[in-house]
Amino acid sequence: MLVSDIVWGDNFSFAEQADYDDCLSAYRDKFMHAEKDLIYMDGNSLGRLPLQTRDKVSQLVDEQWGKALIRSWNSDWIDLNRRIGAKIARLIGAKPNEVLLTDSTSINLFKLAFASMKMQCADKNRIVSDELNFPSDLYVLQGLVDLFESQYELVLAKSHNGISVTEDEIRAAISTQTALLCLSHVSFKTAFKYEMSSITRLAHDSGAQVLWDLSHSVGAVPIKLNDCEVDLAVGCTYKYLNGGPGASAFLYVREDLQDQLQNPIWAWFAHENPFDFSAEFEPASGINRFLTSTTPVLSAAATEYGIDLLLEAGMDNLRQKSIRQTEYLLYLFNKWLKPNDFILGSPKNPQSRGSHISICHPEAYRITQALIHPAGDQKIIIPDFRSPNYIRLGVTPLYTSYKDIYQSMHRIREIVEAKEYERQSGVKDVVT
Ligand SMILES: Cc1ncc(COP(=O)(O)O)c(C=O)c1O
Repeated sequence: MLVSDIVWGDNFSFAEQADYDDCLSAYRDKFMHAEKDLIYMDGNSLGRLPLQTRDKVSQLVDEQWGKALIRSWNSDWIDLNRRIGAKIARLIGAKPNEVLLTDSTSINLFKLAFASMKMQCADKNRIVSDELNFPSDLYVLQGLVDLFESQYELVLAKSHNGISVTEDEIRAAISTQTALLCLSHVSFKTAFKYEMSSITRLAHDSGAQVLWDLSHSVGAVPIKLNDCEVDLAVGCTYKYLNGGPGASAFLYVREDLQDQLQNPIWAWFAHENPFDFSAEFEPASGINRFLTSTTPVLSAAATEYGIDLLLEAGMDNLRQKSIRQTEYLLYLFNKWLKPNDFILGSPKNPQSRGSHISICHPEAYRITQALIHPAGDQKIIIPDFRSPNYIRLGVTPLYTSYKDIYQSMHRIREIVEAKEYERQSGVKDVVT
């Protein structure tokens, strides 16, 4: 049935039936649920722990580190970046030799943006992003402008409504002087999703390369980097990929660009023959030149099983469920929260958003705290808060149920109508 044909219901039994009919519902049991009653709506920040990850990582610690010790480098670990990179490649529509699991998202962004700017600095002087981008990505770009001694300027495309950026707004920021367009595919705050193919084409038409940050879209929406002819991309594994806190990130470099681009960090794993220990740096050919250091094996290995679950469930199926669930959430939002001073902080059109929904309220922080720290015997509900007034509700179709959504929206309504948030101090935690 088309999602537009669904007649939503605002009672609990509707949610129960929707879970019963959900062909992906069995995946929920493949994750750890240590607190049975906890409703987790923050998989867009830190994904849940897959049960297999817990078992495999503990096996790795015992067998590969504990027993085999350094022999495990040759038998297993040395290929980890490429082997898991090749699995991520299947999620993002890339070739196996175009993706590496390595470093953090910010470091990968720095390496790839640098490489693009270095390649084009003789005849270009502009890099472009947008004002909705993740601030840390903008800091990295600002740092690069400084590093290139202001040979480049950073231009930010404006958003007309604070939620999304139109193609015209990107077009207005790009010129033939643009070396690089660097954007988040899905916005961290509003969940706005760019049309990757047309934006990439727009940049290419001006002679610019494109670097997409896929942190909020990988594992949440189907991505086709090769079909869209994307040059460069980075992304993280601890959100929808369920890779674990601070887990290794990934980078993608289109095959034909790999030997033309330079990694700014000339470290041994980027060398053609790291274990020759030659005194001269010789960049590796192919994707390996974008490696840096010894892989943090425990955290890198932990990413594999979450990725396997996504591949098994299929990104098209997951996207279909995510759209149904976010539309259901919006139905309840319109019915219960809009009349209670909430406004929607995400695009209305499901094709233009990722898999989280942001809702805005002047008391957003204290409402979030009331969800996390209920005074009575209500269930604990964990969303997250983004300044100044956004509550982000992450829908992660591998384990979010329709009942989770129903109960979250119902409880938010209760908190606001009874002004329960007034019992919260409003003093901000470091991580919100
Ligand atoms: C869109 C985006 N880019 C980059 C980062 C930074 O990632 P890291 O801390 O792994 O460098 C994040 C972190 O949440 C993010 O959401």
